[in-house]
Amino acid sequence: MKNIYLIGPMGAGKSTIGRLLAAELHLPFSDTDKLIEEKTGADIPWIFDVEGEDGFRKRELSALQDLGEQQNQVVATGGGIVLHEDNRRCLINTGIVIYLVASVEQLLQRTGKDKKRPLLQVDNPEEKIRELLAERDPLYRDVADHVIETGALSPKSVAEKIAELCTGKA
Ligand code: S3P
Repeated sequence: MKNIYLIGPMGAGKSTIGRLLAAELHLPFSDTDKLIEEKTGADIPWIFDVEGEDGFRKRELSALQDLGEQQNQVVATGGGIVLHEDNRRCLINTGIVIYLVASVEQLLQRTGKDKKRPLLQVDNPEEKIRELLAERDPLYRDVADHVIETGALSPKSVAEKIAELCTGKA
């Protein structure tokens, strides 16, 4: 089986849903942000601080290339993964890509108190979320095989829905 990639904005539930999906399908779970942190030996705020967003994006590119060389795993990706063309190509070529859609209100609620997301440490996070979505939504849609409106669904229901789609039982 190809990889299953979960893409979408910060707070869409990629990691939570990814873990549930991996358990449902009995597949290993990976998370690009976690891999970057492990390889760097530092957390994401540190990487942004010291190396800037550019440094982080280079590390993200390399993490995804590594994952793309493996198969049979569920991968949660960072919200900005689709910015780099090579990443978009890698996602399309090496896996089934699921775009998790959530409302701005939900994204804001889930990321509100989080200090670990450097891009949202601004005076007006709602405006920032809207700005990022305006830029990225078309890119998410470009690479996605399936677009899932998470809306009022529980993470478990979303994971079950994706499992059905990916195993052809939907
Ligand atoms: C980012 C999203 C984060 C992380 C980094 C940058 C982004 O991942 O990769 O802070 O550009 O949207 P999550 O989407 O898992 O929060």
